[in-house]
Amino acid sequence: MLKTLGAHIKEFKKDSILTPVFMILEVIMETIIPLMMASIIDDGVEAGNLNHIFFMGGLMVLTAFVSLWTGVMGGKYGARASTGFARNLRKAMFENIQTFSFSNIDKFSTSGLVTRLTTDVTNIQNAYQMILRMCMRAPASLICAMAMSFYVNSRVALVYLGAVIILGIILCIIVRFAMKYFNEVFKKYDALNESVQENVSAIRVVKAYSREDFEKNKFMTACNNIYNMFLRAERIIAFNAPVMQLAVYSCILLISWLGAKMIVSSSMTTGELSQLLTYCMNILMSLMMLSMIFVMITMSIASAERIVEVLNEKADITNPEKPVMNVANGSIKFNHVSFSYRKDSETPVLKNINIDIKQGEMIGIIGGTGSAKSSLVNLISRLYDVSEGSVMVGGIDVRKYDIETLRNEVAVVLQKNVLFSGTILENLRWGDASATDEECIHACELACADEFIQKMPDGYNTYIEQGGSNVSGGQKQRLCIARALIKKPKVLVLDDSTSAVDTATDSKIRKAFAQEIPGTTKIIIAQRISSIKDCDRIIVMEDGAVNGFGAHDELLETNEIYHDVYESQMSGSGDFDEKA
Ligand SMILES: Nc1ncnc2c1ncn2[C@@H]1O[C@H](COP(=O)(O)OP(=O)(O)OP(=O)(O)O)[C@@H](O)[C@H]1O
Ligand SMILES: [Mg+2]
Repeated sequence: MLKTLGAHIKEFKKDSILTPVFMILEVIMETIIPLMMASIIDDGVEAGNLNHIFFMGGLMVLTAFVSLWTGVMGGKYGARASTGFARNLRKAMFENIQTFSFSNIDKFSTSGLVTRLTTDVTNIQNAYQMILRMCMRAPASLICAMAMSFYVNSRVALVYLGAVIILGIILCIIVRFAMKYFNEVFKKYDALNESVQENVSAIRVVKAYSREDFEKNKFMTACNNIYNMFLRAERIIAFNAPVMQLAVYSCILLISWLGAKMIVSSSMTTGELSQLLTYCMNILMSLMMLSMIFVMITMSIASAERIVEVLNEKADITNPEKPVMNVANGSIKFNHVSFSYRKDSETPVLKNINIDIKQGEMIGIIGGTGSAKSSLVNLISRLYDVSEGSVMVGGIDVRKYDIETLRNEVAVVLQKNVLFSGTILENLRWGDASATDEECIHACELACADEFIQKMPDGYNTYIEQGGSNVSGGQKQRLCIARALIKKPKVLVLDDSTSAVDTATDSKIRKAFAQEIPGTTKIIIAQRISSIKDCDRIIVMEDGAVNGFGAHDELLETNEIYHDVYESQMSGSGDFDEKA
């Protein structure tokens, strides 16, 4: 864990070293100041030596300034190191997340990743800054003040030693109890973020179902959980201050009493007494700081583990050693393919699939929900890797291709597709950044998107809101199809991509495909038989296996499922916009 995190501090090595150096210098200055104070009292005030008072006073002001400067510098370098560390962590996590395959993404929840990128990193940043500034300063201050006290008066110093030991034990107990709660708090943040994220991204659904109260309660529960945890932890931490004060005042009382007796018997000077009182404060303050560092570090260990988990997650779909950089054609072959989402699952999602698709064919896929249609097509562009067997595109196993090359040639319009905030043209150019305006318009014509884009006030420069919330479901689907077409792929996969498009437009899109991109292999997943019945061949999926594969007329006669679905949809019960 330390090694992984350490790699991201390297850039700020200088700042990380300078911070404690300046902090120790500050401690030294702070230790010298009481010494000068004692000298002013004993050799100046008591001896009536005005010159000495001025000289020492001047020196003291100078030392105080140096101490101030070292403090400021320590703060500056500490801030630079810790914020830089946080920046590097965020950057590295984000970059690693970009390499994740679909199955890597399945492992982490979105809200979990958000907490890790925000709250957890902030924790680490604060802890690191605290460590840099205090980890050296507190023990140094403790040791310096203790040594000086023994130097000044060893009998009084013994009082401190006793106080330090007792206080140390009490603080340890307090921290131990508080830690238990702090460790729990960060897990609760995931629930909070999940509640916010889910609610905000699906606010329309929440409103449509009048679930505001339920969502409010869910959010409040998450908030209250964190509130209670923090409250419990802080309630214990709150004991720190009174215990400290009790220790400080008892020490002061004891020292004053002891000191007074010693001064009377001339075994100690007044200056020495004032010096000892200052060290008393220093010692106990540094002990307090140490306990806080302890809390901070334990709080951040949980965060650090969560961050390292993301940093160390290895993308499980990577480029092969000598990747093939060219996809010869759009033929597809499934060779005894089995697939499951989890390695340990017993029943695979896809079972022994054998399919041969020629370049340029238009293939329809139909089947009930959960029959693994999406799972099947996701294997073609290697969004997931097969568990057994192989998928070939252009006669070569997809695992041998350069991933970017493969995904450019196999364009998938995902079932859950999204548009991003930006103009329509910007969204289309996700497919190909160098596409000309004409190419974009042509793709939109093929996808029947041109007609509604022309009617928009800003045409192709219309701004799409985040998630495409200002276009209709059918318009969004057509834009997503156009975006895939701009890649000019050899294989085009439409996963239920015209479900929200009216039947007439749906058929227009398919006709345009047949005429304009005859060389492209087209795979169309649909729920409506009307959407796929004029495909060259149709795959009927059931429970992760191929139940039938053939042309419409052939399947009507030989395949029972296909026949039944056709009958029910034709009689009007299956699909509202299909006239019986
Ligand atoms: N990311 C995933 N992790 C684990 N299991 C999954 C995942 N995606 C799908 N599944 C499971 O795999 C099976 C097949 O799902 P798939 O999405 O391929 O079905 P589908 O035929 O596309 O359904 P639909 O018509 O509803 O789109 C389902 O039982 C589903 O629960
Ligand atoms: Mg699906």
